[in-house]
Amino acid sequence: MKNDLSERLPEPQHPKEFYISEVRKIMQVRKRGKVPMALVHTYGCQQNVADSEKIKGFLAQMGFSFTEDEEEADFILFNTCAVRGHAENRVFGNVGALKDLKRRHPSLIISLCGCMMEEKQASEHIKQKFPFVNLVFGTHVLHRFPELLWTALTASRRVFERGDEQEDARIVEGLPIHRDGTTRAWLTVMYGCDNFCSYCIVPYVRGRERSREPEAILDEFRSIVADGYKDITLLGQNVNSYGKKLERPINFSQLLRMLDAVDGDYRLRFMTSHPKDATHELIDTMAEGRHICHHLHLPVQAGSNRILKEMNRGYTREKYLALVEYARKKIPDLSLTTDIIVGFPGETYEEFRETVSLVREVGFTSLFTFIYSPREGTRAARLPDPVPYEEKARWLQELCAEQEKISAERCAKEVGKTYRVLVEKQNEKDGLLCGRTDGNVIVLFEGSKELIGNFAEVKITAARNWILRGELIQ
Ligand code: 5AD
Ligand code: SF4
Repeated sequence: MKNDLSERLPEPQHPKEFYISEVRKIMQVRKRGKVPMALVHTYGCQQNVADSEKIKGFLAQMGFSFTEDEEEADFILFNTCAVRGHAENRVFGNVGALKDLKRRHPSLIISLCGCMMEEKQASEHIKQKFPFVNLVFGTHVLHRFPELLWTALTASRRVFERGDEQEDARIVEGLPIHRDGTTRAWLTVMYGCDNFCSYCIVPYVRGRERSREPEAILDEFRSIVADGYKDITLLGQNVNSYGKKLERPINFSQLLRMLDAVDGDYRLRFMTSHPKDATHELIDTMAEGRHICHHLHLPVQAGSNRILKEMNRGYTREKYLALVEYARKKIPDLSLTTDIIVGFPGETYEEFRETVSLVREVGFTSLFTFIYSPREGTRAARLPDPVPYEEKARWLQELCAEQEKISAERCAKEVGKTYRVLVEKQNEKDGLLCGRTDGNVIVLFEGSKELIGNFAEVKITAARNWILRGELIQ
């Protein structure tokens, strides 16, 4: 799985500004003065969304505008996810579908980046099977995108580039960001993961855990608040281990308090919290914060202690439940969400039922559920996995049916409550305004478009499956 360095480019000869202005000039000539257009497809988690915003920042500096229409694109990028096989197959399918477009528009540049491109077999597959792909680069060399694009445009060959050990361990500050929304913003506080959960590919494709300096985060945070974003999410694979390796150590709760002290009308969220590292200090900080949402995404993955151990999660069912109990006591209106893997290798039906009982016991607002997907190179992929996929799919349905019942019971209690909602958009179909509560629940209500980007008080009138309907309180 480790990088093959045989095709590495030499160290860049010029600062990135040189490549940015060269690509801009090349595209101007190619387009005879018309604005070049870029289309960026993003798969996977919020970290990939945040990475795509950086690539778009570079593209904007290089003179590109953005489109959703493949026919008018001069540059198409797929930012890929490697967490599950299904997402990988979709990427191969979607790239394959561009063959005809490339034949009709030979100057179109097709590129892939992201976690999947850090996997040797995946980038090799692209190289062999999709000769019309021009540029492939992994997560560790994202900061060199202008240079890589310049090389793809000027050298008469395809460019494949992945990071080396040093780049794995580095954080490059000061990259441009082209944020997609106007109300929600993502802020990466750390990269990589050291946990090696036995099913997970992330530590292999995103490298070792490394935290940004708090000053750099604070600067970016202040500018996001000043730009008017009102729902800001701090991102990291395991934010609870933030800062442990910094020269001047600082923990995540301290970082949260530092950011929460910035004045402004905004909400602060974070993801993802690993239950083994979530502390009482974190919960207390959430309870006391001025802007910190009462929402905790706390992936449990499984309800059986044997499976948790096999997964190398570092906590037991009892420890998880004790943490939830403490959090609920301190923050009575806490909204809890979680990730669950169904059908880990060797999981029995009885063990799966322990997940269902945990879900019932906690009463999550919502679940993100996945059928186990073997990832080459991980420890779990070598374990015997006797339960057929169809059986696991039935278990998943069973879990979702239980969650629907729980949601219905909890939703019924929402009617009559009033929430402060951040209005994000107007639905095209029914014209209703769509907003989000502090607990990350969607609320639909009638109101004027001018409310978009602002907070509104909304009383809940009906609730189904965590889509709440409400009316504006004047
Ligand atoms: N198979 C299925 N789900 C996985 N996840 C991570 N790796 C796998 C895998 N191999 C899920 C976990 C994680 C979420 C982001 O994706 O639940 O929390
Ligand atoms: Fe993967 Fe576990 Fe790291 Fe999350 S904490 S990214 S599941 S290895």
